[in-house]
Amino acid sequence: RPGFCVAIDGPGAAGKGTIARAIAGRFGFHHLDTGLLYRAVALKGGDPGSAARGLSAADLARTDLRSAEAGQAASRIAAIPEVRAALLDFQRRFATQPPGAVLDGRDIGTVICPEAELKLYVTAADTTRAERRAAELGADVAEVLSQLRERDARDAERATAPLRPAEDAVILDTTTLTIEQAVTTAVVLVEERW
Ligand code: C5P
Repeated sequence: RPGFCVAIDGPGAAGKGTIARAIAGRFGFHHLDTGLLYRAVALKGGDPGSAARGLSAADLARTDLRSAEAGQAASRIAAIPEVRAALLDFQRRFATQPPGAVLDGRDIGTVICPEAELKLYVTAADTTRAERRAAELGADVAEVLSQLRERDARDAERATAPLRPAEDAVILDTTTLTIEQAVTTAVVLVEERW
C-alpha cells in the first residue's frame, strides 16, 4: 500500500476534526474532512445525485459549509445511496496518497477505507458534544443538543453506510478528556502501527 491510512469516524462534535488535523500535522499526512463533501452537495441544491457527481473545487470552498443548516441538510442527502456512490472514488483515491492520509467522517472505517492501518471511533456524551459545538458556534446549547440528537439518529439509522464503529476500531471516548489528552492518545496509536 502506498500510504498509511487513518480512518476516524464518530458522531458530530466528538473531536474527530481536531484529532484528524493534529495527526495530519504531526505525521505530514493529507487530511480530508469528508463531512464537507456532503455539506457541499446539500448546499449546491438541485438533484442531490447530480450535485454529487458534479461537485467542484468552488463548491468545496464555500464559506457557509460549516453552518448548522448545512449540517442538517447534509445528513438528509447523505442517506441517498446515489450520493454516497458518487463520492466514493474521490475519497478512496485521497486515502491512498503517500505518505499517509487521515479521513474523518461517518463511514471511513466501515466503507471508504476498510483496510485502514488505524481506525478510530471518536465519541462523547451528547450533552458534552452539544456544549462544545454551542461554544464554537456561539449558539444555544439546548438548540444544538436537539439538532445533534436528530442528526445522530438519522446517521445511525439510515440503511446505507450507517454511523457505527468498524469491528476493529479503537473507541476513543473524549467526554472527560482534554483536547491534548485525546490527541496524545491518537498519536500514540498511530506510532504503534507505523
Ligand atoms: O461531520 P459533519 O457534521 O460535517 O457531517 C455532516 C453530515 O454529513 C453528517 O451528519 C452525515 O450525515 C454526513 N456524513 C456522512 N458520511 C461521512 C461524513 C459526513 O454521511 N463520511
